[in-house]
Amino acid sequence: MSLECICLQSRSSRCVFEPVRVARHQPGEHDVTIDVKFCGVCHSDVHVAKNDFLETKFPVVPGHEIAGVVAAVGARVTKFRVGDHVGVGFFVDSCLECAPCKRGDEHFCSATFTPTFNGKPAHGRAGAGVTKGGYSTAMVVDERFAIALPKALPLERAGPLLCAGVTMYAPLVKWRVGPGSRVGINGLGGLGTIGVKLAKALGAHVTVITRSARKERQARAAGADAIVLSSDAASIKAAARSLDLVVDTVSVRHDLKVSALAPGGLIDLLAVDGVWCYCGLILDMLDVQPVRLLQHQLSLTATQIGGIALTQRCVDFCAKHAILPEVEVVEATPAQLSAVYEKLDGGNDAGVRYVLDIGNTLNASVFEQPRARAPKLVSGWRVGAQIALILNRAALARIEEFVLEHTAAIAGGVGAALFAAVAAFVIPPLASRIRG
Ligand SMILES: NC(=O)c1ccc[n+]([C@@H]2O[C@H](COP(=O)([O-])OP(=O)(O)OC[C@H]3O[C@@H](n4cnc5c(N)ncnc54)[C@H](OP(=O)(O)O)[C@@H]3O)[C@@H](O)[C@H]2O)c1
Ligand SMILES: [Zn+2]
Ligand SMILES: [Zn+2]
Repeated sequence: MSLECICLQSRSSRCVFEPVRVARHQPGEHDVTIDVKFCGVCHSDVHVAKNDFLETKFPVVPGHEIAGVVAAVGARVTKFRVGDHVGVGFFVDSCLECAPCKRGDEHFCSATFTPTFNGKPAHGRAGAGVTKGGYSTAMVVDERFAIALPKALPLERAGPLLCAGVTMYAPLVKWRVGPGSRVGINGLGGLGTIGVKLAKALGAHVTVITRSARKERQARAAGADAIVLSSDAASIKAAARSLDLVVDTVSVRHDLKVSALAPGGLIDLLAVDGVWCYCGLILDMLDVQPVRLLQHQLSLTATQIGGIALTQRCVDFCAKHAILPEVEVVEATPAQLSAVYEKLDGGNDAGVRYVLDIGNTLNASVFEQPRARAPKLVSGWRVGAQIALILNRAALARIEEFVLEHTAAIAGGVGAALFAAVAAFVIPPLASRIRG
């Protein structure tokens, strides 16, 4: 028998959420059924719900920072027992057979991984139809894609470790951050704040780069040793060449000035051999002048969440060192989601991770509430810009393909047209002149 649950879904990019009853897929022998208690609201939920990438399948039920309790286990489940704390992050399936999957990089699956929401199941472990995420009272997930949450972690603060946490932990581990490392975190939001705490716990000297002087107290409370104001050239200049690795969590286009020959851009914060690692899901093109990189042998790169084993390692590290995200728990209601989406889209000035209290507030009473107002999303115009960008790219690519495929015919056509023009406009006057 399939499991009915209550979800919060949005039918369009206006991000107006409404409750709906949904049947989860029939649990299999490797599946755990989860009684969802809390779900963090990541900025990626906002990007997808707003259809920033033009590939959202509506209605959409976001949510991929899920923390709950195991309600039932399939016959062959070995990792979990009923009553255990359990989490689900950004994906719920992958092929498990390709080289990246076998080495624990399921998020780089050669075949494709299945995102927890707005994903198309491809490997038989995520039900049928578009996946629905954690703004939901229950989930059914294959145990190989579930994370064990130690009971030392408060459940309401555990979910954000499964996306924000591991997304920050992965680059810190990859670039071997430890005592003596000089790490910058650009943007003090959901990712940035946990990033500061993780880098600090690994022993680094941590600099927060932020637009807002008002966030200094919060940055220091998270453990930052230094602050750079990204809006202030003097502040950037004072910290020039002081960082080995910057993990950049800003959610919108921002210019590092890798193309301007004049100094003064954020890129100048990197020391020789420095690495600038993007996390933000940004579609816009980068302006990069290689000469600005080669002068100090800099690298520009990007990172994407983390595999299941690394996510488990991140969670265990946080439990061991009592590293917890800064959260604000809110009711899991359409009205609260409107407010949270507005705050994140507006730049997350509070710099916290908002977490939906699913266990206590997402229930039948939500159906009685009036329809939520639409959040005011400032970045609507960007969608227009993105459509233009994509259409331009698609149109240019098609013209290029056409020209390549039909080079011979085009050359023949141009030759024939030239011949016809000569025959029509050059030969007759010439002939009449010769005759005359
Ligand atoms: N790569 C991955 O695997 C992965 C995983 C999770 C999330 N993400 C993406 O990472 C980004 C951050 O996610 P999040 O949940 O941390 O978002 P968030 O809580 O909204 O924080 C984003 C931060 O970016 C800065 N910011 C926002 N608007 C800005 C603007 N107009 N100009 C300059 N700075 C601005 C702000 O920091 P200050 O006020 O301090 O400047 C803000 O706190 C999003 O794009 C999200 O989709 C990627
Ligand atoms: Zn996320
Ligand atoms: Zn794979």
